[in-house]
Amino acid sequence: MSILKVKTDSGEYEVLIRKGASSDIGKKLKQIARGNKTAIITDDVVMPLYSDSIIGELSGCGFETCVYVLPHGEASKNGREYLKILEFLAESGLDRRDTVVALGGGVVGDIAGFAAATYLRGIDCVQIPTTLLSMTDSSVGGKTAIDLKAGKNLAGAFKQPKFVAIDTDFLETLPEAEIKNGLGELIKYAVIDGGEILTMLEDGFGKNVQKIVEAAVDIKRRVVEADEKESGLRRILNFGHTPAHAAEKLSGFTLPHGVAVAAGVNLMLRASVRKADCPARDAQRIEKLCVKYGLPVAFEYTAKRLAEASAGDKKTEGEFINLVLADKIGSVFSIKVPKTELEEYYL
Ligand SMILES: NC(=O)c1ccc[n+]([C@@H]2O[C@H](COP(=O)([O-])OP(=O)(O)OC[C@H]3O[C@@H](n4cnc5c(N)ncnc54)[C@H](O)[C@@H]3O)[C@@H](O)[C@H]2O)c1
Repeated sequence: MSILKVKTDSGEYEVLIRKGASSDIGKKLKQIARGNKTAIITDDVVMPLYSDSIIGELSGCGFETCVYVLPHGEASKNGREYLKILEFLAESGLDRRDTVVALGGGVVGDIAGFAAATYLRGIDCVQIPTTLLSMTDSSVGGKTAIDLKAGKNLAGAFKQPKFVAIDTDFLETLPEAEIKNGLGELIKYAVIDGGEILTMLEDGFGKNVQKIVEAAVDIKRRVVEADEKESGLRRILNFGHTPAHAAEKLSGFTLPHGVAVAAGVNLMLRASVRKADCPARDAQRIEKLCVKYGLPVAFEYTAKRLAEASAGDKKTEGEFINLVLADKIGSVFSIKVPKTELEEYYL
């Protein structure tokens, strides 16, 4: 088992990573919980697969549990479901000492984390991620959110979990398309870090699952510790994301996020070759890796359409937009680009 400690200004917590890690959650929660009620928030795909064993672990350690089930998918990460969760927590009698347990992918983790951050002005939350993307990205770092009609993740809060239990056994039931989705983000980490995670991905995900998940969480941990509230360094985690978000929007959100990130990573590497002296062989190395995993290396939208979609994003800063470039694999940096010049980066 690997245990990583995340140390932020708003709290320190452990991330347990191993096959079967979810069987530790009752004991682990017993050590830190102040109350004896837990509300498991999950979705309708994960619930029949894993909620019984989690309920068993929690009740075996003396916790009362109740379960709220969302319809699966991004469409549930909205204000209506969020309010329903808050009402459910109140009706179930959770008080300030009790705990929300987020059991699912990034959708569940984000909405349950936001509910925990705001219910009674904040109660404890534990993350049990069940997708590759949520294990390696969204469950660690404390960003929680829901989507608004105007765009994704536009309402949210920073809320660090009390702990994260990553049970890599859960990946066994995860559909291939969702593994691919997670691989897009892992390739982004490989570009940012340039270390062992890149060589392990080149060697093969299947052979190195455990170590790759650990390496990704460790990279995320380091960045979050240095910049918890995304005022600077944490932006590097957005490598490839600005064009990816634009393409997701243009596709009417049918393009999966991780798949869009893979294309975005390649686009920004090609921009980095032109604008930041990144060696072309680095861009080619990542292209080869994406091809190995059946991930796209380009978008089907023109640079002009992508730039227009990015410029309309709610998270831009006035006339400027933050982009992340690489001067080589393992060395990335954020710059402010005038919206009028964006198209040149997306060529
Ligand atoms: N908070 C952050 O820092 C952060 C970072 C990245 C992404 N996100 C958010 O994460 C969300 C995407 O998360 P996701 O990719 O995990 O998607 P998801 O939560 O929608 O899960 C994908 C699908 O897999 C199913 N599933 C989950 N675990 C399973 C398992 N073990 N076996 C079988 N099926 C399973 C789910 O029911 C769902 O249908 C987006 O909303 C994104 O904005 C947040």
